[in-house]
Amino acid sequence: MDKLLITGGRPLSGEIAISGAKNAALPLLCAALLTRETLTLTNVPHLNDIGTMLKLLEQMGVKVTREVAPTDAPVGAGDTLSLDASGLNNAVAPYEMVKTMRASILVLGPLVARMSEARVSLPGGCAIGARPVDQHIKGLAAMGATISVEHGYVHAQATRLKGARLFTDMVTVTGTENLMMAACLADGETVIENAAREPEVVDLANCLVAMGARISGAGSDVIRIQGVGSLHGATHKVMPDRIETGTYLCAAAATGGSVRLNHTSAAYLDAVIDKLMDAGCEVTTERDAINLKAPKRLTAVSLRTSPYPAFPTDMQAQFMALNAVAEGTSIIRETIFENRFMHAVELTRLGANIRIDGNTAVVTGKEFLEGASVMATDLRASASLVIAGLVARGETLIERIYHLDRGYAALDKKLLALGADVRRVK
Ligand code: UD1
Repeated sequence: MDKLLITGGRPLSGEIAISGAKNAALPLLCAALLTRETLTLTNVPHLNDIGTMLKLLEQMGVKVTREVAPTDAPVGAGDTLSLDASGLNNAVAPYEMVKTMRASILVLGPLVARMSEARVSLPGGCAIGARPVDQHIKGLAAMGATISVEHGYVHAQATRLKGARLFTDMVTVTGTENLMMAACLADGETVIENAAREPEVVDLANCLVAMGARISGAGSDVIRIQGVGSLHGATHKVMPDRIETGTYLCAAAATGGSVRLNHTSAAYLDAVIDKLMDAGCEVTTERDAINLKAPKRLTAVSLRTSPYPAFPTDMQAQFMALNAVAEGTSIIRETIFENRFMHAVELTRLGANIRIDGNTAVVTGKEFLEGASVMATDLRASASLVIAGLVARGETLIERIYHLDRGYAALDKKLLALGADVRRVK
């Protein structure tokens, strides 16, 4: 299994291109299930999670054609994928595939809507707490699907889904996406209240509209969908990855560096950029680029995770690493997921001073961290260990970096381009 060896202490400097968003690309791939015509997606990032989703779709009968980015494209440039679901013949998502990636649940809504039936394995336990899918199921049931849960599989059936007024108990991103996709082919109007406002939901809605769906209100907490008889093919560019962007900004900030990130947008990153500026960074933004210059020493920043547009839970771990070397004490509150502080223990192995009490972490900044061997536990936790490793004196060896390969395109190459001393070792 690959490991990442980092020799810390070099400020990041230079420029890189940000890849397409994992969390936008995954639901967009599932949108291909909704039509017999070809859906073409550009800027699809090279990630293990994308590979897993493609395998899942292919075993359902979807034909995938890949056009690889030209060799002179920036590091981490995405592919163009054409998905043809005209031969869709198997509405089953087996446990072996779903267990490795919870986002597989995103096939449920489109399959019931197009095939009238779906059998999707329950995602099961997850390293960042119990992550149930009850809201996805509740919504489909309200749209008239008959649902049973047997042998670890959700079995949903509906000759044709019916539009309904849906209310989710909490803001759920993939729940909103699943129900929005299903509603596109339902009979009549569906209203999703308490909908997730994440930019990835808007990206999906834009693609669905290009495919002929009638959707309004995406990006607000009430989304209205008028069902149509069928959707057609379209071409759509995956939005830039705001979490990858935020991660490199944090890495540059923590190492005292100065970077320019291209092919991205500050439009989706207000809460993150605000905190970086509070920490003392100079941030300037252009239409599709962000520049960050770090101060000599960062100031600690407290934060609380919440659904978009507030501070994203997917940036919590990276800010913990940043605060570990900032001047002062910060308080980090995680309100979206239980059990999402696993990186804290690993960060303390590098010398960080972190105290955890329930969903609150108190971080007292230290001037230095010291390199050590650490273990990646989930995707964003791994990113925080990379940031800490880039800052720490000496060598940090990060094990189990398959978590990073799930969500960060060409991470080691991009860090090398920014002057970091990193090496992938077997
Ligand atoms: C998505 C993102 C993930 C991000 C998360 C929160 C994708 C592929 N993943 O995950 O990176 O961390 O949003 O921004 O887009 N919940 C329930 N029942 C449900 C659904 C959710 O109880 O049916 C709970 C979850 O356990 C969690 C909270 O609601 O506590 C939010 O989860 P949700 O927004 O659904 O996360 P994901 O969509 O899985």
